[in-house]
Amino acid sequence: MDMNVKEPNIVVVGATGAVGREFLRILEERDFPAGEIRLLASSRSAGTRFKVRGEDLEVREASPNEFSGADIAFISVNSQLSAQLGPAAVEAGALVIDDSSCFRMDPDVPLVVPEVNGEDVKWHRGIISIPNCSTTPLVMVAHPLNRESAITRMVVSTYQSVSGAGAGAMEELRNQSRAVLEGQTVEPGNLPKQIAFNIFPHIDDFTANGYTFEEQKMLQETRKIMHIPHIPVSSTCVRVPVFGAHSAAVHLEFQGPISPERATELLSGMPGVKVVGGPGESSYPTPWEVAGTDDVYVGRIRRDISSDHGLAMWIVCDNLRKGAALNAIQIAEEVLRLNCLAPSQVAAPSRSV
Ligand SMILES: NC(=O)c1ccc[n+]([C@@H]2O[C@H](COP(=O)([O-])OP(=O)(O)OC[C@H]3O[C@@H](n4cnc5c(N)ncnc54)[C@H](OP(=O)(O)O)[C@@H]3O)[C@@H](O)[C@H]2O)c1
Repeated sequence: MDMNVKEPNIVVVGATGAVGREFLRILEERDFPAGEIRLLASSRSAGTRFKVRGEDLEVREASPNEFSGADIAFISVNSQLSAQLGPAAVEAGALVIDDSSCFRMDPDVPLVVPEVNGEDVKWHRGIISIPNCSTTPLVMVAHPLNRESAITRMVVSTYQSVSGAGAGAMEELRNQSRAVLEGQTVEPGNLPKQIAFNIFPHIDDFTANGYTFEEQKMLQETRKIMHIPHIPVSSTCVRVPVFGAHSAAVHLEFQGPISPERATELLSGMPGVKVVGGPGESSYPTPWEVAGTDDVYVGRIRRDISSDHGLAMWIVCDNLRKGAALNAIQIAEEVLRLNCLAPSQVAAPSRSV
């Protein structure tokens, strides 16, 4: 791989998916300095055409042989496919930026939110992962507060949109809503229960301790990104009938006192975070307003009356943008800025997560 490559050739795997389509939009919006762009998806989409930067591009069927000449492979498919295609892309000389959960907890793979731990891109071995779409907004908000006073506990309840489960789940909400309004009964398809006019605390499979994998990811990924190996994080992840943007009610406990006014000041200074309303004000962000935007929005910042040094707040973030595609592109921008496309030779930091 050419270390000084200015306009990397990129391969977008999963270009036809919910994240992949958003990725192509953001690539254009940010004028990402890509050379050749290759689009891959399943055989079902082979031959589909997309206009990117004015170029007419044809989607090809993904295979391990499709990475020759690539400098960066952005992979947005399921974990099983990432496990096959990721190493093949690295073998072909590309840096992989992967959206799935496949490599996130691998000690040799940096898990990165550039505003929080951008420096971690420096020790990649060929693969960098993005976090789960609920973890990213949480760490964006927790990070500046944790620098002021160490966080000792996080309790989170999420309200996650169907776009977090991909394009098929969005179609399912559309179809079910129509059917229910017409008085028909509906059967779940991609999602575990009826989503139209309903909610359920079930995202990803259940684990032995009663939490779901989605909830376990929030715990493990938060620890890895924030470099706080033992921080307790308890979450309940809930799917709601919303098309775009995830919301969360967040309760943070700190070692020392931190006022809502000071938290507002710190969050207002955090790149990529926007505070809506001030302490005591009743304005707050909603997913309908936030969908399609880049920032993590925070509102209702208040003292948690159940805790000595606690804060409660409400956060909303577009899961397809900062929760996925935008974060992946920002990682690539950070890699180019730091000139570290080639795999690092230095040892990965040893941490107990
Ligand atoms: N959605 C989010 O908010 C979000 C956030 C963070 C991370 N992620 C992760 O990003 C990944 C993609 O999620 P998504 O929401 O974009 O899912 P999606 O809408 O279901 O898209 C899946 C993509 O994978 C492709 N694909 C499926 N089977 C394939 C095969 N056999 N060979 C090659 N490509 C295949 C699909 O192509 P076809 O169109 O041809 O079927 C499509 O482009 C997942 O790992 C997800 O966990 C998603």
